[in-house]
Amino acid sequence: MSARSLITTTDLSPQETLLLLDDAAALREQRRELVLGRAGDDTLRGRTVALVFEKPSTRTRVSFEVGVRELGGTPLPLSSADLQLGRGETVADTGAVLGRYVQAIVIRTFAQSRLEELAASSGVPVVNALTDEEHPCQALADLLTVRDEFGDFSGRTLTYVGDGNNVAHSLLLAGAAVGLGVRVAHPDGYAPDPAIVARARGLASAHGSEITVTTDAREAASGSHVLYTDVWASMGQESESQARAAVFAPYALDATLLALAADDAIVLHCLPAHRGEEIAAEVIDGPRSRVFDQAENRLHAQKAVLAALVGGRPLGAIAGAGSAGTP
Ligand code: CP
Ligand code: NVA
Repeated sequence: MSARSLITTTDLSPQETLLLLDDAAALREQRRELVLGRAGDDTLRGRTVALVFEKPSTRTRVSFEVGVRELGGTPLPLSSADLQLGRGETVADTGAVLGRYVQAIVIRTFAQSRLEELAASSGVPVVNALTDEEHPCQALADLLTVRDEFGDFSGRTLTYVGDGNNVAHSLLLAGAAVGLGVRVAHPDGYAPDPAIVARARGLASAHGSEITVTTDAREAASGSHVLYTDVWASMGQESESQARAAVFAPYALDATLLALAADDAIVLHCLPAHRGEEIAAEVIDGPRSRVFDQAENRLHAQKAVLAALVGGRPLGAIAGAGSAGTP
């Protein structure tokens, strides 16, 4: 496999992650100018990007489709129902074939190993649009949202309350890489994967941040600058929803928990949200919430990923070129 992929969050080095955030912010500025009628971007001109979804999606699907178009490329959205993949064709054969037609594959699927197989067989860049284990594009948008609010990451802490799931995993890895402290508070039996926590701790010690994994949500929220939560039952776990609701209830992100955080704390949620379950309506719809800025930042962060991995722009080049983003 020679093409550069984003399969796990740490496929970008800490330095590259920071440069990518700069590019994403520059693309956001460029887009605001574009809306005022400037000439379009042709970073992906002549390139087709397959967008394969084996699970539902609103934000990821739409932001990737819009993002590819805004970079001058052609998005090709495909659900598993559209593909022989949904009828048992192997990932390896699917990758080998798609690699003959398209210049990159963005995929949302189940096991992380499916992405690795797809990258190996297709020979084109593969971007993780969520697996059972990780959600790297979400974490990049989350970092951008935190940096927008606080200027940098130094001395800041993000507390994630709830399931030690894909979103928690990518936040642990991404936060650790950029020096943002990450605390995960989870009910017994729903801890993040110890292998991911170990990787995050390794990165954190090299980048001046701290990783905490605990069952004490109140202690984890105390003095934190970002409170974050996600659904209690992820896609594929629908049959566990009722059982999980009882276990997770003490971990809801409500006004009482938010009151323990720093005075200037913000609230994030990757969405979709269930008001009255993992997050109180008054919190997600309240003045500390940044969830819709966070959702918008998906677009900018993913455009930065595509420009680098598919368009061949060196990371940091868009920000370095000024607001017009010219090469
Ligand atoms: N946050 C997120 O990935 O949303 P979608 O499932 O709508 O893509
Ligand atoms: N953990 C959630 C994230 C959705 C964006 C899931 O995997 O369903």
